[in-house]
Amino acid sequence: MTTVRLNSADPVSFDTDALIVGFRSGPEGPRPATGAESLDAAFGGKLAATLTAVGFSGKPGELAKVPVFGAIAAPLLVAVGLGDSAKADATADAEALRRAAGAAVRSIAGTARAALLLPAESADQAEAVALGALLGAYGFSRYRTNGEVKEPVGDLTVLSANGADGSDGIAGRASVLAESVTLVRDLVNTPPSDLWPAKFAEIAEQRGGEAGLSVEVLDDKQLKDGGYGGLIGVGQGSANPPRLVRLSYTHPEATKTLAYVGKGITFDSGGLSLKPSASMDWMKSDMGGAGAVLGALIGIARLAPKVNVVGYLCLAENLPSGTAQRPSDVIHSYSGKTVEVLDTDAEGRLVLMDGIARAAEDSPDLIVDVATLTGAQIVALGWRTAGVMANDDAVRELVVEVAGAAGEGAWGMPLPEELRKGLDSPIADIANLQPERWGSMLAAGIFLKEFVPDGVRWAHIDMAGPAYNKGEPHGYTPKGGTGAITRTLIGLAERHASI
Ligand code: BES
Ligand code: MN
Ligand code: ZN
Repeated sequence: MTTVRLNSADPVSFDTDALIVGFRSGPEGPRPATGAESLDAAFGGKLAATLTAVGFSGKPGELAKVPVFGAIAAPLLVAVGLGDSAKADATADAEALRRAAGAAVRSIAGTARAALLLPAESADQAEAVALGALLGAYGFSRYRTNGEVKEPVGDLTVLSANGADGSDGIAGRASVLAESVTLVRDLVNTPPSDLWPAKFAEIAEQRGGEAGLSVEVLDDKQLKDGGYGGLIGVGQGSANPPRLVRLSYTHPEATKTLAYVGKGITFDSGGLSLKPSASMDWMKSDMGGAGAVLGALIGIARLAPKVNVVGYLCLAENLPSGTAQRPSDVIHSYSGKTVEVLDTDAEGRLVLMDGIARAAEDSPDLIVDVATLTGAQIVALGWRTAGVMANDDAVRELVVEVAGAAGEGAWGMPLPEELRKGLDSPIADIANLQPERWGSMLAAGIFLKEFVPDGVRWAHIDMAGPAYNKGEPHGYTPKGGTGAITRTLIGLAERHASI
C-alpha cells in the first residue's frame, strides 16, 4: 500500500526519486503553478522555455519528463499540466489537481518515491493532491507471474508550504478515502472464480469488522425463510448461493440515518436470457455497487462523522442452469409485491428491490441505491457520468452536487410516470422489463421506485459505465475497476452529519 505525507521541505534539495511539478497554461506558455515559482531559479529561469521546447504547454493532463542535470536533488522532474487557473472554480480546480497528481504518479510506476509540488496551500488543495496521487498509484498485479510488472510508487510526499503546521489530518483523510476506493477496485478486478457471494460476504465481515462496523450476513436458507424472493430467484441458477450483508455504522450523537443498498452480482451472464460474449466478459464488474457500499461504510467508520449509516450488499451470481429462474417465472419479493421475470438479465432490479424494502425497515432519512444497472445508462451518459434518479428533486440535486464535489461524474435524470405502464404484467403486480428498449435506464428507476415505501426519500445511482474502465487509464483512474461512487457515498454521509 502506498503511503502519503505532507512536508514543507525545500523542493530543490528534497531527497526523492522524482519531483512532480504543476504548471498552468497561459498565452505566454507554461508557468510554474503556485508554490512552484521558486523552483525556476534552480534551473536558471529556463524551466518554462525548456518545457515549451519539448512541446509542453501546461494543458490539463499533459505530462513531460525533464532531465535535471543536477539542478535539483531529485534525478527526474515530471511536469504536469493543470490548465488555466483563471477558468476554474475551487471544485473544478480540486479535480484538476487530483487528475494531474494521479496521471503524474501513474506515469512513473516502477519508481519507489516521488514528491509532488502542486498547489497545496489550502487544506482542500493539499487533500486533492494527496488523494489524486494515491489513487494514481494503483496497480492490480495479484494474478501476474512474469515479474514484468512495474510496481506503483510506494512512498509519496506532498510538498506544501503549510505542510508542517499540523496538517496531519489531511494525509490521513486522503489515505482513508484512497484505501476505500482501492478495496472496491480490487474487488471489481478480482475474477468471479475468486469472488462469489459467500466469499464477498466473508470479506465484508472481515474488513468491515476491522473498521468497527457491525456486520450481519443472511445466507441462502435465511433468505428463503425470510421471503427474499428476488435474491433467491436471481441466485438459484448458480452453485454459489446468494447472500445479503448488512453493515452498520452508528454515532452516539447522530440525528440522521442513511441507508445504502448496493447491487452485488458477482457475475452477470444474463441467466437463461444469456448475454452475447462481448457483453459478458466484463460482467465480473456487476458487483461494483455493493463494492462501493462496502468501501464507503469502511471509510465512514474510519472518518467517524456524526450520522448513522447502514449498508446492504445484495449478493448473487446470475447463471443459467437447470435450476435457474425462467423468463415468465413469478417471484415474491421481500416487500410482498409479486414480479414477473420477463428477462433474467434484468436481475439487478430484482436483488435491489429486496435490499431497498429491507433497508426501509431501518427507518432511514434517505435510501441511496448504487448499481451497474443498465446498458442504457452508458448509451445516455457515456462511460464517465452516472445517472441519478430520485423520488425527490432536492435529494437528486444533493447527490449530483456531492458527486461533483468528489470529482465523480453524475447527472440528474427524470423518472417519467408514463413509463410505469410499460411494466404492467398480465399476471403479477409488476414485470421486470418494459417491452421497448427506449428509456431503459429510467424504466429501471421506475421499477425500483415501486419498492420504496411512501414517505421515504430515495435516490438511485446507475453507474454501469463509470464502475469499470474498458479503455485506457486517465487521470487517477486505472483500467478496470474504478471504485466509482465510493467517495460520493462517503461525502453524502459527511453532508448528513452537519444537517
Ligand atoms: N449488469 C447489466 C447492466 C450493465 C451493462 C452493466 C453494461 C455494465 C455494463 C444488467 O444486469 C443488464 O443486463 N441490464 C440489461 C437490462 C435489460 C435486460 C432490461 C441491459 O441494460 O441490457
Ligand atoms: Mn443483467
Ligand atoms: Zn447485471
